Amino acid sequence: MDSHLAHPLYDSCARRLVAWWNVLLVFFLVLRLASAQPSLENGLLSSHSRDDLVEKLTELIHELITEFREGDELPGPPPPGAVRLASFNAALVGENPKGQEGSLFDMLVEGSEEISLAAETIQRVRPDILALKEFDYDPSGETLDLFKEKYLEVPQADDVEGISYTYSMQIVSNTGVLSRADLNNDGNISLPDDGYGFGFYPGQFAFAILSVFPFDEKAMRSWRLFKWKDMPGNRIRNTNPPDYYSPEAVAELRLSSKNHIDLPVAVTTDDDEYTFHMLVSHPTPPAFDQPFLYNVQRNADEIRLWIDYLDVNATYLVDDRGRRTKGLADLKANFAVFGDQNNDPNGGDGINEVIERLIEHPRIARFPTPASLGGLENNDTSRESIPPAFHTADFALRVDYVLPSKTFNVLKSEVIWPSTESRFNYLVNASDHRMVYADVRRKKK
Ligand SMILES: *[C@@H]1O[C@H](CO)[C@@H](O)[C@H](O)[C@H]1NC(C)=O
Ligand SMILES: *[C@@H]1O[C@H](CO)[C@@H](O)[C@H](O)[C@H]1NC(C)=O
Ligand SMILES: *[C@@H]1O[C@H](CO)[C@@H](O)[C@H](O)[C@H]1NC(C)=O
Ligand SMILES: *[C@@H]1O[C@H](CO)[C@@H](O)[C@H](O)[C@H]1NC(C)=O
Repeated sequence: MDSHLAHPLYDSCARRLVAWWNVLLVFFLVLRLASAQPSLENGLLSSHSRDDLVEKLTELIHELITEFREGDELPGPPPPGAVRLASFNAALVGENPKGQEGSLFDMLVEGSEEISLAAETIQRVRPDILALKEFDYDPSGETLDLFKEKYLEVPQADDVEGISYTYSMQIVSNTGVLSRADLNNDGNISLPDDGYGFGFYPGQFAFAILSVFPFDEKAMRSWRLFKWKDMPGNRIRNTNPPDYYSPEAVAELRLSSKNHIDLPVAVTTDDDEYTFHMLVSHPTPPAFDQPFLYNVQRNADEIRLWIDYLDVNATYLVDDRGRRTKGLADLKANFAVFGDQNNDPNGGDGINEVIERLIEHPRIARFPTPASLGGLENNDTSRESIPPAFHTADFALRVDYVLPSKTFNVLKSEVIWPSTESRFNYLVNASDHRMVYADVRRKKK
């Protein structure tokens, strides 16, 4: 991936120099303007050149504001006609389901620094379309409504505005849903390990969708119930030993640890209108499975589902309504793959080759790897993920992605991880993951 070399991050030193040079220039011009006043009466400085000075000053100050915004390491608004897409694992997870003590709902009622910071991050970046990972599923929708009304719509700092997402949805999840097999061979069927996805109660660690554009819930496809064994060439027997899963477990286990959805969104911009497919999932972490490595295998196949879907040869795929959908058949479809994929092409414990195939899929846009100065500072390379500027989580890996289709120009894509130089560094306390965003504009034919 040679695109790394041209990354804007490496310009940041130059940018700072320019910023300070401009500060000096403004200072000098103000001095000149001040000292020009008396000489004006002497006719030494024409009013014309004074106007020039004022104009130059205004220009410089505007530039400075932009430059110092960059010093904040947070993006300004997306350019006209662009749509901002984001994926954020906000770690909004309770200890119990709603109705019991310690639920996410209760946490939202009580409030906490982390919740407020997660909301502030969203308010400062202002994505138009957001895949919010690790948000406990609540079938009534009340938990998400509370997060919107009490946090997102209320400014979380003096200099930021609330944000309202007219369209939102909690997505049902396999986590904490007890399967009918003893998946972990411990002699009984119990949570969390014998759930279709790891979780202590149904819907723990689920995800939600927030959008300023309407989406077509009826046209949504999902593959929550799809069984792992039904994927041809699956890795369910690549465990150590290969018969780690009993025949009952193989017959039973679903592929998706949470859910895999294709949600069509009706995007409208100043000068364009199109259908946009959100492809969202949150594969299991390839960890907590020693020495059997069943999560490593499952993570890879959860990612592969999207590769086959984009190849339009997922002839095996039957969605949750029983429809066969071999993929995103319209090759001109606008889409983005959103997710904490729990896999880094350069390191960590996942099968790197699979995430690499997704990133480099012929239908995915080519653009510089999103990076941050905060990641660069958190320069732990013990998990072999290099360079650290690409990391999206405290645990020093690149795992969070927004991968737009080639039908888009990706104008900018970054990891929101303000360094200790930025006055917004405190946002890192929101979650163990960082938000990743991409500003996209549809290519004109
Ligand atoms: C059932 O599994 C749980 C969790 O692994 C374990 O704590 C418990 O002792 C098991 N019970 C029996 C009867 O094996
Ligand atoms: C789909 O096509 C790709 C690329 O040709 C291939 O690697 C993959 O194995 C195919 N998958 C299926 C399920 O046929
Ligand atoms: C990592 O960053 C620290 C400061 O944040 C610095 O002292 C150290 O030299 C860096 N290490 C590498 C390998 O870049
Ligand atoms: C994050 O939270 C911890 C614990 O509350 C605090 O000590 C630390 O200063 C915070 N970090 C930042 C960058 O604000």
